[in-house]
Amino acid sequence: MRLIETIEELKQWVSENKATGAGIGLVPTMGFLHEGHMKLVETAKRENDVVLMSIFVNPAQFGPNEDFERYPRDMERDQELAQTAGADAIFAPSAGEIYPRESAIVISAGRLADQLCGKSRPGHFDGVLKVVTKLFHLSEADRAYFGQKDAQQLAIIESLVEDFNFPLEIRRVETVREPDGLAKSSRNIYLTGQERAEAPHLKKALEMGKQLAIGGMDPIPAMTDYLGENCSGTIDYIQLLSYPDLTENVTGEAILALAVQFEKARLIDNLLFTIKGN
Ligand code: PAJ
Repeated sequence: MRLIETIEELKQWVSENKATGAGIGLVPTMGFLHEGHMKLVETAKRENDVVLMSIFVNPAQFGPNEDFERYPRDMERDQELAQTAGADAIFAPSAGEIYPRESAIVISAGRLADQLCGKSRPGHFDGVLKVVTKLFHLSEADRAYFGQKDAQQLAIIESLVEDFNFPLEIRRVETVREPDGLAKSSRNIYLTGQERAEAPHLKKALEMGKQLAIGGMDPIPAMTDYLGENCSGTIDYIQLLSYPDLTENVTGEAILALAVQFEKARLIDNLLFTIKGN
């Protein structure tokens, strides 16, 4: 497996692969890999000749009071895991390599960032769009892989690609969970013992809410009560929206999503399902 740190080297790797007609799968990550990331690579490996994983803790998507500095990093372990999962190359650039100068151009998620995480993380999805646009262009990928765990991010990236004719396909990968239901996340290591014991209630609340929503009822009050009784964290949001267009008209494909702020970790989770019309 190749470790690539500069854009020049990446261009070289891409042109070598393009010359042989190889299909390129891209898996963008911020590292500190877990089974969720591994599943993205495994899926990409099945569908492409070569897989490029990017590992870049993107400063542009962290707010001033967020956890950019203490976001977990472990490059050595990441390289082993990426290789085990089947990655052919890792692109791990420095911030200066990706952002050599301040750009005047802003790519904005617009109204898709008005809901869910976008509300409490202003500018976050604009920063995500900035980096994935660069990664899509640099990698010349045929397909790029994203997890449903970050369903709003996925919806926004799908919209970018569709609305602006990016020449690649976005592939969705289901959320990988711990045996007790907690969605795998690089941030789970920041949970205290008690918070870790409470965290599976997020998925339980979602399952309960899903049944209510499918039955035509408002799931939010019951979920709020349930989490209030079972979790010490503070609810940031619980929302039921259409998916992937994130409007409040929820007949058809829907997302039920929540975010809970624990002492040192903010956890998000969601379920996607169908609500039949009347
Ligand atoms: P990161 O949080 O490292 O996640 C990288 C990819 O892994 C995302 O597509 C995310 O949805 C997926 N992922 C995370 N946990 C998962 C799980 N439990 N099951 C399945 N997939 C999971 O998301 C980002 O990085 C960044 O915003 C990025 C897209 C790389 C842009 O900087």
